[in-house]
Amino acid sequence: MKLTATFLALTTLLTISIAQTTCHKYVIISIRGTYEPQGRSIAFTTMINQTFAAIPGGVEYDAVYPAAANQTAYFGADDVTRYINNGLQNCPQQQYAILGYSQGASATMLTLNNITDPSSTAYKAIKAVLVVGNPYHIPGASVNVDENGGDATKNFPGVVYNASNASSRGIPQIYYDDGKLVDICHTEDSICAPAYPNASFVPGHIQYGKQNVQDMGAKFLIERLGGNSTNPSTTPTATGSPTSSQPAQYTGGANMVPMSFIAALSGMFALFL
Ligand SMILES: *[C@@H]1O[C@H](CO)[C@@H](O)[C@H](O)[C@H]1NC(C)=O
Ligand SMILES: *[C@@H]1O[C@H](CO)[C@@H](O)[C@H](O)[C@H]1NC(C)=O
Ligand SMILES: *[C@@H]1O[C@H](CO)[C@@H](O)[C@H](O)[C@H]1NC(C)=O
Ligand SMILES: *[C@@H]1O[C@H](CO)[C@@H](O)[C@H](O)[C@H]1NC(C)=O
Ligand SMILES: *[C@@H]1O[C@H](CO)[C@@H](O)[C@H](O)[C@H]1NC(C)=O
Ligand SMILES: *[C@@H]1O[C@H](CO)[C@@H](O)[C@H](O)[C@H]1NC(C)=O
Ligand SMILES: *[C@@H]1O[C@H](CO)[C@@H](O)[C@H](O)[C@H]1NC(C)=O
Repeated sequence: MKLTATFLALTTLLTISIAQTTCHKYVIISIRGTYEPQGRSIAFTTMINQTFAAIPGGVEYDAVYPAAANQTAYFGADDVTRYINNGLQNCPQQQYAILGYSQGASATMLTLNNITDPSSTAYKAIKAVLVVGNPYHIPGASVNVDENGGDATKNFPGVVYNASNASSRGIPQIYYDDGKLVDICHTEDSICAPAYPNASFVPGHIQYGKQNVQDMGAKFLIERLGGNSTNPSTTPTATGSPTSSQPAQYTGGANMVPMSFIAALSGMFALFL
């Protein structure tokens, strides 16, 4: 009995350690928005799959955190930071893309605030950062685009952006300068562009699953992760199974938003961080 328990414990440990040391060419980290259930965000419906299809050797990791209304972004940043640090230890060749929606964009900012040294291994390993519905949308930034790749929302500050407050200035400047970042703000989104005419939370803030956004995001990710890179020296480095791409348990169509999610959002304009 006792022996069986010990054996089981050992097997579990072994399984965990194997799971942690399976390396991949790249990992797409999805950080979901407030009230979304654990799993892939509704904002990244197909862009992750499109990227997997274009570039073999990728897996998805969904940040584990509450995504609750009461400002839990720090927990998301903490989880992502831990995940990347573990990856740097166990799989030094592994690359990362970080995708953040709404509170997930805030968590992205909090993560990147600590990764600003361009000579650091973490900075080098992060190849792409994509945020949508970003509460810290920086007005006028060159990487800002609307859902059509245009300038309609470019100059609007996000709802909690504050240039005078070091904690509210958005994603660190270096990510704006080095081509690693794109910030997609949908027209009429009251979180990333609250001053936009007729801005709203529903539907304004929950339209990122649409195909135009997904295609734009996929194109960016594929370019950044080397699918058609200008750097031909980028070669697969994964030591794990080449067939190990495991897109998450996403089952809905591109435009599907769970009714329960919309219900939870309705009337909760202030609860987005
Ligand atoms: C994403 O890929 C997974 C696994 O390849 C598949 O099961 C799922 O249906 C795909 N989702 C979409 C929206 O294509
Ligand atoms: C956030 O709210 C949940 C319940 O909705 C509560 O359990 C948790 O302690 C709260 N967290 C903070 C930091 O207030
Ligand atoms: C960032 O660094 C500060 C200072 O070391 C630390 O307190 C904070 O927890 C770090 N943030 C994350 C998300 O790891
Ligand atoms: C912006 O930040 C500054 C400095 O922290 C603060 O004094 C000011 O009240 C903030 N503005 C808003 C609108 O929150
Ligand atoms: C600065 O920004 C942080 C993060 O948004 C916020 O928690 C804090 O209250 C702000 N400080 C001031 C003085 O506005
Ligand atoms: C805002 O909504 C009003 C009422 O529906 C409409 O008349 C107006 O054209 C809208 N403005 C813009 C810029 O979409
Ligand atoms: C790949 O890059 C080449 C050269 O820049 C370009 O002509 C081609 O359209 C690109 N292919 C895709 C699928 O993006």
